[in-house]
Amino acid sequence: MRIRDLPTPALIIDATVLAQNIETMSTALPGAALRPHVKAHKCTALAAVQAAAGHRSFTCATPREVLGMAANGLGEDLLLANESVDPARLRAMAAAQDSARITIAVDSVSTIDAAAAAGLHEVLIDVDVGLPRCGCAPRDAGRLAAHARAAGLTVRGVMGYEGHLMMVTDREAKRAKVAEAMDLLLRASGDVGGDIVSAGGTGTFDLHDGVTEVQAGSYALMDTQYGTLGLPFAQACFVVGTVVSSNPRHAVVDVGLKALGMDHGNPAATTWMEDAGSDGAAGGIGAGTSTDVWFCSDEHVTISSVPGRTDVDARVLITPAHIDPTMAMHEVAWLVRDGEVIDRWPIDLRGW
Ligand SMILES: Cc1ncc(COP(=O)(O)O)c(C=O)c1O
Repeated sequence: MRIRDLPTPALIIDATVLAQNIETMSTALPGAALRPHVKAHKCTALAAVQAAAGHRSFTCATPREVLGMAANGLGEDLLLANESVDPARLRAMAAAQDSARITIAVDSVSTIDAAAAAGLHEVLIDVDVGLPRCGCAPRDAGRLAAHARAAGLTVRGVMGYEGHLMMVTDREAKRAKVAEAMDLLLRASGDVGGDIVSAGGTGTFDLHDGVTEVQAGSYALMDTQYGTLGLPFAQACFVVGTVVSSNPRHAVVDVGLKALGMDHGNPAATTWMEDAGSDGAAGGIGAGTSTDVWFCSDEHVTISSVPGRTDVDARVLITPAHIDPTMAMHEVAWLVRDGEVIDRWPIDLRGW
């Protein structure tokens, strides 16, 4: 099948670019130095490619991701980098410990007690390093670790996600801010013990001293927001749409906000290099003419017309502004190379 034959909206992954991104990252952070975050793609087939590149430990955001990874033989070392007090989901993860190693983040007495009551064995103390989300105050980390150990849990170390720093554009300012955040985490690590210090994401992947692993996920597929930072990763994921209505000023493509994560703003749009025959020969899938995005509605994106390229039934490539929620909206990713569809990957870790 060729890309042109896919029913749209169709989420496609450029196999060549994906492989390059994974290789670039595994060169920078080999093996256990990277704990890829699966929330960025929610796809065990893609996680298997990351595992084949040497990363056998994974980060998850939901119990569903943990259980799906475990059920697919990718459970060598799974971290739920998120808090849960749901007894049923915690018990389900505890039951999966027979075949998988599962560690969950805790940041309070309540989350520790819930993990212990469910029969989980291992935790990380989640520390607030500046992002107002989960994580205990750094000064409380040692006390919580002691509470977890008293409850019979093994404390493997600490994590602290500096998500507020991902989009700092000045690299030296970012390096200094990451160092400040990591200083908090390393001091907490001194109080907690254990051998894991887990932090970071795609926007800070090469800026840590003293951490044992980085939790980046978006690097594999990328999005237009991360694309502004000059990172050494290229866009590997697009949503292919069909022009369903067109006039000399604007064209309407069947990819709306129900097929795109919109929290980082509008996507980008490029015309489709169909007449080049092979996308590879045309300089890559995203190498068409870029055109303005006017606005998105439920099932449509309105773009500026490009003569000869945006007539009804033309294909247009939409590049998501935020990859994670975009993946969560699609059931399937189509793996493509040179215009050919070479595989069909279920987005099988969706849900909670
Ligand atoms: C806990 C945690 N770790 C790491 C990441 C890094 O992800 P990304 O690769 O998108 O920067 C995220 C993203 O939100 C996260 O929530």
